[in-house]
Formats: sequence, C-alpha cells, structure tokens
Amino acid sequence: MTRSPFPTIPPLDLHDAVVLVTGAAGGIGRAVARELHRRGARLVLLDLDLAAVRDAARDIPSDRVICLAADVTRREDLDAAVAAALDAWGRLDVAFANAGISSGNTADTVASVADGVFERVIAVNLQGVWNTVRATLPAVLEAQGHVLITSSTYAYVNGMVNAPYAATKAAVEQIGRALRVEVRGHGATAGVLYPGWVRTPIADVAFGKDPLATALVDKAFPGPLKRPIDPSRVGTAVADGIEQRRARIQVPRRWIPVSALRGIVNPASDAVLRSDRRLLDLVREVESRRRS
Ligand SMILES: NC(=O)c1ccc[n+]([C@@H]2O[C@H](COP(=O)([O-])OP(=O)(O)OC[C@H]3O[C@@H](n4cnc5c(N)ncnc54)[C@H](O)[C@@H]3O)[C@@H](O)[C@H]2O)c1
Repeated sequence: MTRSPFPTIPPLDLHDAVVLVTGAAGGIGRAVARELHRRGARLVLLDLDLAAVRDAARDIPSDRVICLAADVTRREDLDAAVAAALDAWGRLDVAFANAGISSGNTADTVASVADGVFERVIAVNLQGVWNTVRATLPAVLEAQGHVLITSSTYAYVNGMVNAPYAATKAAVEQIGRALRVEVRGHGATAGVLYPGWVRTPIADVAFGKDPLATALVDKAFPGPLKRPIDPSRVGTAVADGIEQRRARIQVPRRWIPVSALRGIVNPASDAVLRSDRRLLDLVREVESRRRS
C-alpha cells in the first residue's frame, strides 16, 4: 500500500457541522436529514417544493435548519443555497448531492423509451450532481469537509430496461472517485453512496407500480438483493460514512461483495441475463406495449 504524503485527515465531527442536502424532501434525503440533526449538524435542506422541504424539517428547530426550494438543474439555485449557508453560519462542511429521478413510471428499453426521457434523467441525476458539487466545492474545501454523491448499485449492475438511470449512476460514481483524489491535497474528502433497493417513491416502479418492471426485478435480482430496506438504514449509514469520511457507503452491506467482485460478477451476470428465456420474453413485452 502506498503511503500518503499528506497528514491523516481526522474524522468529521458532525456536531455543529453545516451540511447541505439536495432531494431533502424525498425518502433518503429526509432520513439522512433526521439522522444528521440527531447527531448535532446544522442543515441546509433543498428540494423542488418548499412546502415539502419544510415538512421534512418539521421536527428540527428553526435555528438549526435552512429550507429552500431549489432545482438542481439550475446552478443559480445551488449558488443561492451556498450563499444562504455562508450568510447564516459562515461555513459549509458537507455537501450531499442526493437529488435524483427514475427513468419514468414504467420500465423501458433503449429502443422503446420515449424521446426526452434520457435528457431529463441526465439533467437531474448527472448535471444536477455536477451543479451541486461545483457550487459547494469552494466552501467545502475551505472547511476541509466532505462531498458525498448518491450513486446506486445501478452503477455496476446491468441496467436493462432502466438504461438512462443506470448510465447516470455510473457517471456520478466517476465524479465521486475523481473528487476523492483531487480534494485530498486540500485536506478534504469525497465519497460515493450506493444504496440498493430502498422503500421510497423512486423505487415504486419496481415494486408494484409497473407490473412488468416488478416481474423483471424479481427475475433479475437474486433473493436478498431485491429486498428493499427502510430509508432509516440509509440515514444511519450515511451519517456514519460522513463522520468516517468513507470513500464508499454500500447499504445494505450485502452488496459489498458484488461491488468488490464486479470485474468477475458483471460478465457472468450479463451472460446469465441474456440467456434467460423468461426474462427476454418480459423485455419483449416491455417493448411491445410501447408500440401498441
Ligand atoms: N430508493 C432507492 O431504491 C434508491 C436506490 C439507489 C439510489 N437511489 C438514489 O437515492 C437518491 C434519493 O432518492 P430517494 O430514494 O430518496 O427517492 P425520492 O423520490 O423519495 O427522493 C428524490 C428527491 O429528489 C427530488 N428531486 C427530483 N428532481 C429534483 C430536482 N431537479 N431538483 C431538486 N430536487 C429534485 C424529488 O423532489 C425528491 O424529493 C436518488 O439519487 C436516487 O437515484 C435510490
């Protein structure tokens, strides 16, 4: 193992740390905000709808939280949020680039997905993460803090019938990995969050909302890997991961071997998927409903 020429970076003390969270009104964002507040952090919570952000912050005293409407596709919204944090508290220690959308309310193939979906998913999940990181980085570096980017196990599992989403999650993983190296000389850190299936609105499509997507997930993911977890588990894992400045947060942890062995698992699982008759029939059904 190569020794770092830089001094060890101490763990991040969340007490009074200022943490910015995008997608804060969603399932994971809310759970993370709740846990960070419990550990003493001050929060800047952002989402599209201000009323939803305020609802997410309803148990947090008003002097510990700033609630703002912000669209991550608009860089100026992120700049305004950073300015609000600096104005109120003079610092920003952690940026959690978490907002994201699915590829839609149904499963679709690359051939059948509606025009514009790919562009929209890229705008929120990739450009939105970029905007969040770019807007927050100067303040986070100044504070020798931490940047955390929400990717997904879709960064490394096969993205069939979900390619736009999977593509963005692989892309943001690369931003996080590059950052991890680039910010080291500043005494700061960066990490990537890889949730498996989590019980939130974004996952509804794969758990009942679209029967074909549900059947495909059931077929493609082995037993425990398709069992959704409660967002509170992600809240705890994220807070632990930020405190420990971890490069990777895998939650649930049963995904760790799949990720670690991806060079072997991926070609093997791709081969299994493309030779599964029932699965390929379901994929054809997905496509034929678009044409009908
Ligand atoms: N739930 C899962 O199974 C799962 C698994 C892996 C990764 N993720 C990722 O976790 C993150 C959080 O998702 P979640 O599960 O809490 O879903 P969610 O739908 O409950 O929350 C997503 C939040 O992002 C917000 N958002 C969407 N577009 C936005 C925009 N343009 N600007 C600002 N906010 C916007 C939504 O309003 C919503 O509140 C996402 O990046 C998602 O891709 C979720």
